[in-house]
Amino acid sequence: MHSLTHWPAVSDDDWNALREAARRHQQAGATWTDDARGHSIGLVFFNPSLRTRCSMELAAHQLGAHATTLTPGSGTWDFAWNDGAVMDGSEAEHVRDAFGVLSRYYDALGVRVFASLSDREQDESDALIRMVADAADGPVVNLESARYHPCQALGDATALAAHFGKEDLGGKRFVLSWAPHPKPLPRAVPHSALLMAARCGMDVTVARPDGFALDDGVMEQARTYADAQGASLTESADPDAAFSDAEVIYAKSWAGNAIYDSPGAEADQRAARGDWKITADRMARTASGAAFMHCLPVRRNVVVDDAVLDGPQSIHLPQAECRLHAQKAILEHVFA
Ligand code: CP
Repeated sequence: MHSLTHWPAVSDDDWNALREAARRHQQAGATWTDDARGHSIGLVFFNPSLRTRCSMELAAHQLGAHATTLTPGSGTWDFAWNDGAVMDGSEAEHVRDAFGVLSRYYDALGVRVFASLSDREQDESDALIRMVADAADGPVVNLESARYHPCQALGDATALAAHFGKEDLGGKRFVLSWAPHPKPLPRAVPHSALLMAARCGMDVTVARPDGFALDDGVMEQARTYADAQGASLTESADPDAAFSDAEVIYAKSWAGNAIYDSPGAEADQRAARGDWKITADRMARTASGAAFMHCLPVRRNVVVDDAVLDGPQSIHLPQAECRLHAQKAILEHVFA
């Protein structure tokens, strides 16, 4: 049995095997192993989900495994997190006890717990999913934590291999573009898209306004992956230049660097960057055959114009479909 909690801890061999397995599931007439058959996974979503929840439940069903989904506070007890918590309020159960119990019922657990965007140390250390993994006596799959969304990254790599018709994505020009949004959003998806692209050997540009740099540690990890692949990693504050001749545009909003110390200033900076919306004019600068990607959910005509999302370049729906193929690969990996 394997965990998939702290994504960079997944070895290159395992990452490549996961990519191959997800592609196998993606291709018509796929067969699968019996590794997951008869096993069980408990899926705990502290935050909302459409794709991750449905694709994981369906993947388990199609592989002959069982999945139970729990939404804390809605049909379960409210959970306390802090060590030493005096639980005299609304929280009736501590995560240590809840996950200790669940891991005695299920062969593996999956957990979604987003960044707080208020506690920098907690978010940067991915403390909440680490706490869950520590409390659980078995494998834990990260269904999106403060820092990583490995299920999304594997689905995205699968979608790109399908789009380009080959497994080797080395040398493809991949732009991770910040996009406007009315709310500050966590960085798990952009971090994971960046790491995925660098690990696949693509030449990566992170296009983002000043004040919206991604976490230093993740940039450093991405640079290590890029160096190992002989690929490049650059940053740009000029979206028009970054889009020129790009082969993949991966749009995502994320909170600015001021979010922890000065949320009001971060909101002002974000609101002033509406000109980063992905438009058909900007997409026209990309290379022939370039793909537009977004993890979804997406706010139409705020993040990206309808003309792009409904146009021929967007692969956001096959990208979402690949989440199902990726989840099957992940379940087989976890239960192997
Ligand atoms: N992209 C993604 O994880 O979608 P959900 O939040 O709907 O699961």
